[in-house]
Amino acid sequence: MKLYQKVFAVIAYEGMSGLMRRMIRKFYITNEESSNDESSKVREDYERLVSDFNARALAMGYGDIKKYYWYHTVDLGNGLVTPGTYDYRKDLPRFQFPEDMSGMNVLDVGSATDFFAFEFERRGANVISVELPSIEDWDMPHGKDRQLTLENLMAYHQVSTIEEVQYFHLNGPFEFCRKALNSKIRRCHSTIYDLSAQKLGVDAFDLIFVGDVLLHTFSPLRALASLAPLCRGTLIVSSDLANEGYGEPIMRYIGGEERSGDNRSWWIPNRLCLEKMLKRLGFKTVAVVGHHTGVLRPEGHVYDRSIIHATKCEFPLKLCTPSEHHSEVEVSHGQTATHLHTGV
Ligand SMILES: C[S@@+](CC[C@H](N)C(=O)[O-])C[C@H]1O[C@@H](n2cnc3c(N)ncnc32)[C@H](O)[C@@H]1O
Repeated sequence: MKLYQKVFAVIAYEGMSGLMRRMIRKFYITNEESSNDESSKVREDYERLVSDFNARALAMGYGDIKKYYWYHTVDLGNGLVTPGTYDYRKDLPRFQFPEDMSGMNVLDVGSATDFFAFEFERRGANVISVELPSIEDWDMPHGKDRQLTLENLMAYHQVSTIEEVQYFHLNGPFEFCRKALNSKIRRCHSTIYDLSAQKLGVDAFDLIFVGDVLLHTFSPLRALASLAPLCRGTLIVSSDLANEGYGEPIMRYIGGEERSGDNRSWWIPNRLCLEKMLKRLGFKTVAVVGHHTGVLRPEGHVYDRSIIHATKCEFPLKLCTPSEHHSEVEVSHGQTATHLHTGV
């Protein structure tokens, strides 16, 4: 396909904002030298944040929590802010969650440190957060591949059992935040595939959020098929979208031929593929409502995710007004669209 044809195709399928996003991505995967400088600065700043947080928590009587892994930055409102790999605080308006979620039943799937779940609760929702029963339940090939990943996680946390990894990686940080925030969020331990109304004790949810989980599943369609019957309102997906294909629904395999780097990521759909899957599962409207980009800590990679709203109801939920943040992204670091985060 010639360049001008590609440009027309992108505008036709993704609009001007899609074109801008692709140009920004392409432009910034270049200057490795400055990227290395910036990466070291991100790492240094992050290490300072972690040690300040640990020292402050210790001084406040929380004991030694050095082994905890903070996926999200969560402001605990008592002078403590967890040093997360992802700090989504300034990006919240981009997701266009309803400002007032009073009385809504909300499900946050693959919630990690629960930044989003706590925010839904703060806005008035009844929230159930879903996390894996065990770190071993990640979709991973059996045998040596899986064994090495689990050993790496144990080494990262300096522990010798899977149960300890589960605690320091997922359950401990969540419980710590839940207590500090005096939260009533209920946590359900399940894989995305095994979710059901019966298991959750709720017939249907007004809003389901699934952020950066589908790429970690061997079967994204099966994962979405588990969520679809549970959603009576809006499903909000935050995900990397593949750039390939205009007018063709494509799922790009990113798992490689052998174990390396981020070894638990498998698939990225393009926009049309995600849209068609969601429509096949009964969603009436599917729209990319925005993007969010940021810098992954401590690695310093730039990520870029799309935010997709899929609605079951004829009239979508009243959404909050996207503020000035809604303009296209400004990216100032080297690499883009990566999932190489530590340990997760
Ligand atoms: C990349 S993190 C995303 C965290 C959060 N949803 C966000 O958007 O910031 C993926 C989370 O999904 C969980 N996860 C991975 N595979 C899963 C599966 N098959 N079912 C449910 N959760 C899963 C992981 O434990 C991890 O906490």
